[in-house]
Amino acid sequence: MNSILDFSRAKRAEQPIVLIAAYDAQMARLLAGTDADAILVGDSVAMVVHGHPSTVHATTSMMAAHTAAVRRGAPDVFVVADLPFLSTRSGRDAAVLAAGELMRAGASAVKVEGLRGHEDVIAHLVESGIPVMGHLGLTPQSVHQLGGHRVQGRTPEAAARLLADAATLERLGAFALVLECVPAELAAAASRAVAIPVIGIGAGAATDGQVLVLADLLGLDAEFRPRFARRYVEGHEIVRESVNAFVRDVRAARFPAHEEVLA
Ligand code: KIV
Repeated sequence: MNSILDFSRAKRAEQPIVLIAAYDAQMARLLAGTDADAILVGDSVAMVVHGHPSTVHATTSMMAAHTAAVRRGAPDVFVVADLPFLSTRSGRDAAVLAAGELMRAGASAVKVEGLRGHEDVIAHLVESGIPVMGHLGLTPQSVHQLGGHRVQGRTPEAAARLLADAATLERLGAFALVLECVPAELAAAASRAVAIPVIGIGAGAATDGQVLVLADLLGLDAEFRPRFARRYVEGHEIVRESVNAFVRDVRAARFPAHEEVLA
C-alpha cells in the first residue's frame, strides 16, 4: 500500500488486505521484506511489549516512540498508528495534537477506536489531512466498560448499531475500518454495507482483509492463545530451545568456537 487510495482499490479489486501489528524497527524491517500490505503500530504494544494488563496504559508518547521505530525499520511501508486511550475524548485540539505527534513520528495514518461521542473529532482529523482508520466491535480501550474482551454485536440491536456506526465512519471520511471480535455474519454484512475496506480480527472470513498481531502469529506467548489468532510457528519454543542451546554450549565450553574468536 502506498497510500489510502490503495486500500479502496484493493477492496474494489477484491484483493484481501493484510495488516500486521508490530512495534519495533527490527520486526518492521522483517515485515518490509514480506508481502504484507501495511504495519499497524497497535496500542496492544502496551500489553505485548510493556506488560500492562490492557491497552488503557498506552500513551501518545509511547505510541510515537514505537511508530518512529517502525518507520526507521520500514521507511517505505504504509504505517497505521493507534491513537491511545482517551486521546479523542478531550476535544478536537487535543486529538489533532496527538495525531500530529504520531504522523510526525512516521505514521501514514492513525486508527481511532469507537465513534459515538467523538464523531466531530474524527471528521476534524480527516479535514485536517490526517487519514483515519476506524475500529469498531470489540474496542479494547473500552475493556472496562465492556466488562472484558468479549465478542460484540451479538444482539440485533448491537448489530444494527454497529452497521450504522460503520456507515457513519465512512461518511465522516475514514478510509478503512478494523472490525474486532464480532460474529462472522455481522462482519460480512458490514463489509458489504460500506465501500471502505473492513479489516477483520476475530471477525470471520468474509471481510475485506485481516489483521493479526505479529507476536501472536509467531506464537511468542506460550499462554495467550485466542481462537482467532492462527499461530504459524511456536516462537516461544524456538526462543527457549535456542537460548538453552546457547547456555549448554557456554557451560560445555563449546562457545565461542575458534572461528567466533576475534583476532
Ligand atoms: O492494538 C492492536 O494491535 C489492534 C489490533 C488488534 C487490531 O488494534
